Amino acid sequence: MAKMGYVALALVAIFCIVHVQGLSDDVEAAWEQFQAHHPSSTKSHTDAAKRKGNFVKTHEMIQQHNKNKNAAYQLEHNDFSVMDDEEKKRYTGAKAPSGSRFLIADNLDASMRQLPTSLDYRTNACLAPVKNQGSCGSCWAFTAIAPLEFAQCNKTKTSVVLSEQQLVDCDPNDGGCNGGWYTNAWSYLMGGSAKQSAYSYTAVKGTCKFSTSTIGSTVATYGSVASKSPSSMQAALVRYGPLSVAITVINSFYSYKSGVYTDVACDNLGVNHGVVVVGYGNLSGIDYWIVRNSWGAGWGSSGYILIQRGVNKCSIESYPAAIASVV
Ligand SMILES: *[C@@H]1O[C@H](CO)[C@@H](O)[C@H](O)[C@H]1NC(C)=O
Ligand SMILES: *[C@@H]1O[C@H](CO)[C@@H](O)[C@H](O)[C@H]1NC(C)=O
Repeated sequence: MAKMGYVALALVAIFCIVHVQGLSDDVEAAWEQFQAHHPSSTKSHTDAAKRKGNFVKTHEMIQQHNKNKNAAYQLEHNDFSVMDDEEKKRYTGAKAPSGSRFLIADNLDASMRQLPTSLDYRTNACLAPVKNQGSCGSCWAFTAIAPLEFAQCNKTKTSVVLSEQQLVDCDPNDGGCNGGWYTNAWSYLMGGSAKQSAYSYTAVKGTCKFSTSTIGSTVATYGSVASKSPSSMQAALVRYGPLSVAITVINSFYSYKSGVYTDVACDNLGVNHGVVVVGYGNLSGIDYWIVRNSWGAGWGSSGYILIQRGVNKCSIESYPAAIASVV
């Protein structure tokens, strides 16, 4: 039996066969364990057979990758393991606008001379806890809000949690759960950003309920940081705080667990997801950005991922932008 299992596993590994009839004991055991931890997304699901197929595909990818001891990052199972590509796509939602990006007015050269070798805003009191966009293409709203919460808090020395739902419902420049862009959102938020407590998240687009009496912050100035200039991004992080960026999310990204994400497959494709850079550093000789995602604190490294820095990995250095000041 053990030998049969081994042969089946070898076939899967070599030929990447996804719908093998007799799955190896290892895969079956992993599937049992996964179902026990994710009952609502597996056993009771209407599409149970398809979800098992997706799981097996993800499992092979994870096993293949993690057995490479030289890999700079590791993968793991999570809620995305059973989803097909269309379902996963609903957890992203960046739509780059056409037209030019206006650069932030400040000359960042001066601050580049004394750049710290590392920076980490994750423990800064002005960074609100990681949030979860759910199955709604509203990443752009979460990417817009975190830097605003930080800027507001750093100015007033009082932490504030602001509303993504207001953007989903009200922002005429963006597409609610169908995607958007953070600088468009900041343009809209020059009219005020409601507190989360007054306008909570539902992950579906509804009618606009924004009231100026609930404003927790108001964008004054914002702009783009030079494209493909890692040192400008570092300087902007020091000067303005967390930066909004867009990246290309591919299959391996969904299963990220730890380490510095270096997958070459995500390079030079269109961006599809908005995230927030909250710092940088170096791990075992690889420079990285500290990236805050909006898939809850249970995803990745407590809601964060380290992405390789200095090589425009997944286009992360293509569209950085910052809030320069709040009202
Ligand atoms: C935060 O505020 C302090 C002043 O209290 C200022 O020195 C610092 O530059 C600000 N940081 C950012 C990233 O805005
Ligand atoms: C960080 O990683 C780079 C490679 O990207 C390496 O050249 C450099 O020496 C490292 N720096 C530190 C401080 O470890």
